[in-house]
Amino acid sequence: MTPPDDLSLTVQELSNAYEELSLLYRISEVFSFLSIDEICSRITSEAINTIGVKTAAVLFLDEKGEILVTKTCRGKWSSESVIHRDGGVLWRSIDAKRPAAFCNLSESGHQQSFPELGSLMVCPLVGKAKVIGALVVADKDNNEEFFSNDSKLLCAITAQAGLAIENAFLYGELESLLVGAIRSLVKALEASSHWTAGHTERVTEYAVSIGRVMELEAEMIEKLKISALLHDIGKIATPKEILNKESGLEAHEWSEIKRHPGLGAEILVELKQFKEIIQSVKYHHEHWDGVKGIYGLKEKDIPLMARILAVADAFDALTSDRPYRRMKSKKEAVDEIVRCTGTQFDPTVVEAFLKWVDGFNPPHRVS
Ligand SMILES: [Fe+2]
Repeated sequence: MTPPDDLSLTVQELSNAYEELSLLYRISEVFSFLSIDEICSRITSEAINTIGVKTAAVLFLDEKGEILVTKTCRGKWSSESVIHRDGGVLWRSIDAKRPAAFCNLSESGHQQSFPELGSLMVCPLVGKAKVIGALVVADKDNNEEFFSNDSKLLCAITAQAGLAIENAFLYGELESLLVGAIRSLVKALEASSHWTAGHTERVTEYAVSIGRVMELEAEMIEKLKISALLHDIGKIATPKEILNKESGLEAHEWSEIKRHPGLGAEILVELKQFKEIIQSVKYHHEHWDGVKGIYGLKEKDIPLMARILAVADAFDALTSDRPYRRMKSKKEAVDEIVRCTGTQFDPTVVEAFLKWVDGFNPPHRVS
């Protein structure tokens, strides 16, 4: 028995509403903590899959509001595509802050602007206060025209994405401000001892490279970067004569040096959002087997970022001159790290380190 028309309609409406709701759920879940590039790439894929189109593109408005620049695209849209302000379809939708659809571009007189596209739908990407760009989709898979439900889905994507992109912009600005301030702090620290000049930046580069081989998520890589920049910040409280001592250290001087991870954690304790970073700083000198570390933590009780820092830190220390010994070659340093795997270092981290270090040459330094 076929259902009456009004029932079919209701089922169709329910199905549309469900589709819209599950789409909203999916995108609001995934947008937190993503970079701008990741958000744009996700919404392009989401538009293609949900609306069922062959082409989709995210365009960003320049600061003057005169040019639309392609940020990400798929299908028959050029990544080089730049659209200057004219009276065209995209600009009309942006100025009105409303979606617009053109089912037959050749008949609507807009074919010149998009010679490869048959039909097109656009929805502005709006942040808290202003338009930041647009999401464009073109040519449905089934060659049908765009319906009002397609427009609803497109608007659902852009409503979430506009705010997420704006937040990611603000987050990026704040983050570079924070990282800039941390770098200045670290430079001040390293200026007090020429033996450690550049150590922090190199450890940061090595730790992030190992993290990438381990396929850590972008948010974790950011935290790892800040942890690495701050890992020795506690040395700010270590007496300079100990840091710069050219002969071997006495036992009480070693004890003083060993306080720096704990002091670093104390210095940072007020930064409530830095909980994981503080833990990484505090435990970056722990040993995997728990035997010779400062706090006696063992294996996975040591935070992962601290285990990565331990390998990156050791590799830079081994390939740098110290007052009491000459720098080792890359091979000697790698052999030493491999020798200490399973005792000092986490085998999984060393595995990633070995993959990365294979194609890496330590910078040549003149001491
Ligand atoms: Fe350290």
